[in-house]
Amino acid sequence: MKAAYYTQQGKPSAVIQYGDQPTPHAAAGEVRVRLHASGVNPADANRTVGRSYGMDGPLVIPNSDGAGVIDQVGAGVDAAWLNKRVWLYNGQRGGRVFGTAAEYIALNVDLVSELPDNTRFHEGACLGIPCMTAHRCVTLGGDLQGKTVLVTGGAGAVGHYAVQWAKRFGARVISTVSSPEKAAHAKAGGADFTVNYRSEDVVARVREFTNNAGIDHAVDVDFGGNLKTTLPLLKVNGSIAYYATKGNPTPTIAAPELMRKNLSIHAVLLNSAPHAARKRAQQDIVAWLKQGGMRHTVSQVFALSSTADAHEAVEFQAKNGTVVVDCNV
Ligand SMILES: NC(=O)c1ccc[n+]([C@@H]2O[C@H](COP(=O)([O-])OP(=O)(O)OC[C@H]3O[C@@H](n4cnc5c(N)ncnc54)[C@H](OP(=O)(O)O)[C@@H]3O)[C@@H](O)[C@H]2O)c1
Repeated sequence: MKAAYYTQQGKPSAVIQYGDQPTPHAAAGEVRVRLHASGVNPADANRTVGRSYGMDGPLVIPNSDGAGVIDQVGAGVDAAWLNKRVWLYNGQRGGRVFGTAAEYIALNVDLVSELPDNTRFHEGACLGIPCMTAHRCVTLGGDLQGKTVLVTGGAGAVGHYAVQWAKRFGARVISTVSSPEKAAHAKAGGADFTVNYRSEDVVARVREFTNNAGIDHAVDVDFGGNLKTTLPLLKVNGSIAYYATKGNPTPTIAAPELMRKNLSIHAVLLNSAPHAARKRAQQDIVAWLKQGGMRHTVSQVFALSSTADAHEAVEFQAKNGTVVVDCNV
């Protein structure tokens, strides 16, 4: 099969190669997917450049997420999966070295979910890391019916799904953004109120919007960088679920303040989140896809042979949604 791969970490254009690799076969408990699309997320680029992660093996086919059609089932797997359209996650994660930047992948059926006909393969490749992470971060807020949720960066790949999940679970949603275009994007996802975190006083604007009540739960793209706004806004018994903290990786926290407010802080890394939580995310995503109405944002599409450019785009450019590799060209 054709695949993109690297044998050492570094600048994507310098290390990602494209060529022939052995076509995998479905082992017991596995399915083989003829991939049509592969998602490129920041953590995939982190692995390529060698930031925070070493080589997972001597040769790595990158990318966690993808979508395609099952063309082979291994022993013990229900034959009903054959020919099903699917989306998948954790392709190149958790010790697995062969990810989705390829024509085929073989992986445990547990990581695969149905992709209804109403959802394109390119959109299916956005559902793993971005949509599942958003689901996990939102559901850590508990029963959100009638609650107020702050989603920081509600126009980002994860943030935009988080806005949508919070609305779906009955919350009033506030989103921070950095431009009118991003405000419009967050609102299109269902945000009731947006604040420009670069030009406005977030605490004052949110207090005004909530009649001084504040927020019950925050889904946060920058835990350390945003503490000065999220902490004062959180109500007693409130919570934060964060999935990145680039603005300040080592924040100083006033522990007594957290305690007096009975706050819960959840650090989220999707690929190793509790299995039951990942399973629930998969099920809730499929249910919503079947119902229709979930919005997906594909930022750019690259050919499989240009996977290096896709990683460069994620690493060096601003994106609007998820960068996708088309595994058919
Ligand atoms: N822990 C996990 O499992 C997990 C899963 C997925 C992603 N991540 C990480 O999460 C980060 C975002 O990923 P992504 O794919 O969603 O990226 P993305 O599509 O680029 O979105 C990030 C968004 O956050 C906004 N932003 C950045 N700093 C902000 C701040 N301090 N307050 C409010 N908004 C802010 C950005 O907008 P502006 O630049 O315009 O402000 C952008 O809209 C990456 O670092 C990624 O590695 C972690």
